[in-house]
Amino acid sequence: MIRVCLIGLGRTGKEIAKVLLQQQNLKLVMAVCGKGSNKRGKDLGKILNMRDVGIVIQSSNYLQQQLLKYKPNVAIDFSTPEATIQNAEVLAAMKVRMVVGTTGFNEFQLKKLMHIEKNNKSGIVHAPNITLGVNVLMVLTNLAASILENYDCEIIESHFKQKKDAPSGTAKKIAKEALKGISINNEYIDVHDLDDDAIPIHAIRAGGIIGRHRIIMAGEYDKIEITHESFSRTAFAIGALKAVKFIYDKIGFYEMNDVLDLRHVMTSYLEREAYLRKQRHYHLELDENQRPG
Ligand SMILES: NC(=O)c1ccc[n+]([C@@H]2O[C@H](COP(=O)([O-])OP(=O)(O)OC[C@H]3O[C@@H](n4cnc5c(N)ncnc54)[C@H](OP(=O)(O)O)[C@@H]3O)[C@@H](O)[C@H]2O)c1
Repeated sequence: MIRVCLIGLGRTGKEIAKVLLQQQNLKLVMAVCGKGSNKRGKDLGKILNMRDVGIVIQSSNYLQQQLLKYKPNVAIDFSTPEATIQNAEVLAAMKVRMVVGTTGFNEFQLKKLMHIEKNNKSGIVHAPNITLGVNVLMVLTNLAASILENYDCEIIESHFKQKKDAPSGTAKKIAKEALKGISINNEYIDVHDLDDDAIPIHAIRAGGIIGRHRIIMAGEYDKIEITHESFSRTAFAIGALKAVKFIYDKIGFYEMNDVLDLRHVMTSYLEREAYLRKQRHYHLELDENQRPG
């Protein structure tokens, strides 16, 4: 049984809590709110508008004591970049693995997170893009960009009004995938040297939109568009659960790409295609040999 600690009880954290409470092979043992939050001391069920569940919400001030008491294996963090870094120091020192869904880290903060993992030989999944769908979109973007030479590429992302970071971490990652795809056709481009602004990103912050990412690749005569849209925050919870099961017995710094193992899917696809081509060839040869002289 994997014991889970949930950090950050905002819009996303609350949805993840609801899904975690329904799991058979995972046990939610701790829920952590911000310092000075009015959720502190309340039963988790209260803030989820359900019956009491016997988990009293604690502030991150007391993280270490709570970890010693409840001994979680993995923490899921959907809070703020500053809080994630502070909490990661405590968690990694106690070998509690982490699934970091928080976005908006600057370069320094992201490096710090990597160092915390490395120095403590702990395990972290850094997942600014936690849904399966958006990870498939990234693979498709990389592939399309590598095929559609000289097409103009732009990204439009839309989220709810209060979302703090713009553009979203996911949009930046999609841009990187497009650049990786483009660089395949140009031996003079090193993907590490590519300018982050090379693919324009347009961010919309309006109403209650949960999350939508659209990539447009337009040529002179045609264009393609790839879109992913989350209808419900449950999609984030499902991704977080997959990441928990992946990381709980591992050491290292990983991404959702590693969790979902989409490279394996691509390799299987290519192998299957090669096998079918071989089969077709074999049947053609058979037909020809059976043709009368
Ligand atoms: N990876 C993905 O696919 C994905 C999907 C959705 C969201 N996100 C990201 O996840 C983060 C949270 O999103 P959200 O929409 O849920 O935001 P939110 O509603 O603003 O929730 C953030 C929560 O963080 C809590 N917090 C602040 N400091 C804390 C600390 N020191 N310890 C524990 N909790 C602390 C706050 O709790 P109090 O109110 O109690 O202080 C707040 O409820 C954002 O960075 C967002 O971009 C990522």
